[in-house]
Amino acid sequence: MELLEQKILNEGRVLSESVIKVDSFLNHQIDPVLMQQIGEEFSDRFANKGVTKIITLESSGIAPAQMTGLSLGVPAIFARKRKSLTLIDHLYSASVHSFTKNETNEISVSKDYISSDDTVLILDDFLANGQAVLGLMDIVEQAGASLAGVGIVIEKGFQDGGKILREQGIRVESLASIESLVDGKVTFTKEEAS
Ligand code: G4P
Ligand code: NA
Ligand code: NA
Repeated sequence: MELLEQKILNEGRVLSESVIKVDSFLNHQIDPVLMQQIGEEFSDRFANKGVTKIITLESSGIAPAQMTGLSLGVPAIFARKRKSLTLIDHLYSASVHSFTKNETNEISVSKDYISSDDTVLILDDFLANGQAVLGLMDIVEQAGASLAGVGIVIEKGFQDGGKILREQGIRVESLASIESLVDGKVTFTKEEAS
């Protein structure tokens, strides 16, 4: 997605060979116009797949998930990272380990909002090692729902997440795919025709 790549080049700050900061439009301040276009793009890529629910993880997945839900006309659910006081037993949960942050979070979704009748699209802001997506897939499976695929705003192609998911036959659509952050420079993976 050309507009997103331009935004990353103009506003992203490469912090190391593996991390890029995009707080001005995705992880802190949100650009609603860009987010609307991101929603439309995911909606186009997963049109006619029978998606009934979008699932993401709080907090940075919420904005793209909500805009995609608006375009597809379906609800967006965010898995919570902490157990809520009012949701105790009635939960699907999974463990998600972050190698980047070296912490493990229990993530959970109420059984009220996902069922075996659903076809779910998983969305997230970043794909690094794939642990968040695998945790969300675990929840989708516990609910007996079908998985339409995975949509990612920014994939870091030099980390393993994309490979792990695609090797399982899962459809992964990334709107920007970063091949390298070496020398403070962002290089995108050439987009395959789709
Ligand atoms: P994984 O799920 O693919 O295994 O990713 P990982 O554990 O490495 O990611 C942990 C957190 O760091 C996630 O945010 C993820 O979106 C974010 N992240 C990973 N790589 C980058 C990067 O290069 N740049 C930025 N800006 N973020 C990155 P989170 O903890 O869930 O936080 P939130 O923003 O959703 O609240
Ligand atoms: Na995230
Ligand atoms: Na994030």
